[in-house]
Amino acid sequence: MQISFTAPTRSAGDVTQGAWVVSAAEGTALLPAAVRADRASGGALTRALKVSSFKGKAGEFLEVLAPAGLKVSRILLVGLGKADGLDEMGLETLGGKIVARLQTAGESVATWELEVPNGAPVKPAQLATHLALGARLAGYVFDKYRTRDLDDYRKSLKTVRVAAPDPAVAKKAFAGLSALADGVFLARDLVNEPPNVLHPAEFARRARTALSKVGVKVEVLGEAEMKRQGFGALLGVGQGSARESQLVVMQWNGAPKAKKANPVAFVGKGVCFDSGGLSIKVGAGMQGMKGDMAGAAAVTGTMLALAARKAKVNAVGVIGLVENMPGGDAIRPDDVLTSLSGQTIEVLNTDAEGRLVLADALTYTQRRFSPRAVIDLATLTGAIIQTLGFEHAGLFSNDDKLADRLAEAGRHTGERVWRLPLDPFYDKMLKSKIADMKNIGGPNSGAITAAQFLKRFIEKDTHWAHLDIAGVAWQDGERRPTIPSWATGWGVRILDRLVGEHYET
Ligand code: BES
Ligand code: MN
Ligand code: ZN
Repeated sequence: MQISFTAPTRSAGDVTQGAWVVSAAEGTALLPAAVRADRASGGALTRALKVSSFKGKAGEFLEVLAPAGLKVSRILLVGLGKADGLDEMGLETLGGKIVARLQTAGESVATWELEVPNGAPVKPAQLATHLALGARLAGYVFDKYRTRDLDDYRKSLKTVRVAAPDPAVAKKAFAGLSALADGVFLARDLVNEPPNVLHPAEFARRARTALSKVGVKVEVLGEAEMKRQGFGALLGVGQGSARESQLVVMQWNGAPKAKKANPVAFVGKGVCFDSGGLSIKVGAGMQGMKGDMAGAAAVTGTMLALAARKAKVNAVGVIGLVENMPGGDAIRPDDVLTSLSGQTIEVLNTDAEGRLVLADALTYTQRRFSPRAVIDLATLTGAIIQTLGFEHAGLFSNDDKLADRLAEAGRHTGERVWRLPLDPFYDKMLKSKIADMKNIGGPNSGAITAAQFLKRFIEKDTHWAHLDIAGVAWQDGERRPTIPSWATGWGVRILDRLVGEHYET
């Protein structure tokens, strides 16, 4: 979908094709562009309003097809709802809803001329750019594996022109948001991709291709190198698979050279398929486990977004890529692994594999980069879904300030998080009969014991947060207009926002 910005129309004749999208405040008061459309069509909107139940609620539509006196295919009147609901997120949702509506109507071109009603918490310039971001996010499709009935799935809308008070200013502001959408799309693509295609080496190759283009330094460590360095926990998970495990290290150095700031680090769980290993999952529990690399995808997408918008920050992304399979060489329940940190782990359930991958990735990241903060993302536990469902990711942190900042970034981006406790009481549940720890807690508080396990690999003084994204990385039920695919791309937006607010110079 092509999105551009255009000056507001002065007369109805300025819009010569496609849909003309105009707005009404709640209570049906037509805003100026809608008034122009109404006049030019001989009062078509006013007449339509009289015979409809349209109330101007947020996302409500009134459509007049083939209006007499105009060249456009339709006038689409959009309700803006209450002015105070028109914040950035509200606008994105609205932009997404308009796209969904025009898609199902088979429209290919649209001119959007929505206006800010009095009392809205956004400026006219933001109105255009955040509507446009919503439009872009809603236009995402993943249809590369379809070969039949493509018209049923491809999106018809090709061109959206959004009116802005100063189109040049809007274009510039949108560049950063568009980079963000690129990052979200990369994450969605990686998560949607099937596991026979996106095995660890293929994930690493795609990360390298996408990120090298925007100036991110990408290194890939294979099994031989990781073995040499002692990644016993990560390699243990991968050893039952025919596919080689990989560690990808991505560095973006965007901070001014004078400031030799330590980087902020993002660490992702990248289990390209989680069968459970020898502690094998039941059939239904295995479906969707191609998405068990969503943490790694979010980290990769974030690195793309930061680099593409030239964020003034030093950031590193480290992702552990493995496939958890029950091959003849697979780790057994009862095996003991020696992690990169030197700590030993008794593996009692091979399906608790994500924490093993993250343990080594976390150690590597801290020892190599001495980061200002480490944030890891992982589809780590089914227990977090029991706890928080699909609305919030679980947040665990050893740093109240970092936790508050993440919560705030989540509220502004729609990627909401909810903090859960860490406590020595839970840590005790990880005691092993023969090794430094076991890889499972007990039957209860599974998301917390998983976080406690990770905490054992956090070095003194490291500011750390863990996001358990098992409930939010993909969706099987109803979809939001701006998240139209199975994979949500969750994580890119909250991390990009955190960086923008707190780590950029
Ligand atoms: N990848 C799963 C967690 C998961 C489950 C993500 C459902 C998304 C949806 C993880 O590796 C796992 O299997 N966790 C186990 C841990 C248990 C064995 C301690 C779980 O949650 O059941
Ligand atoms: Mn598992
Ligand atoms: Zn897993």
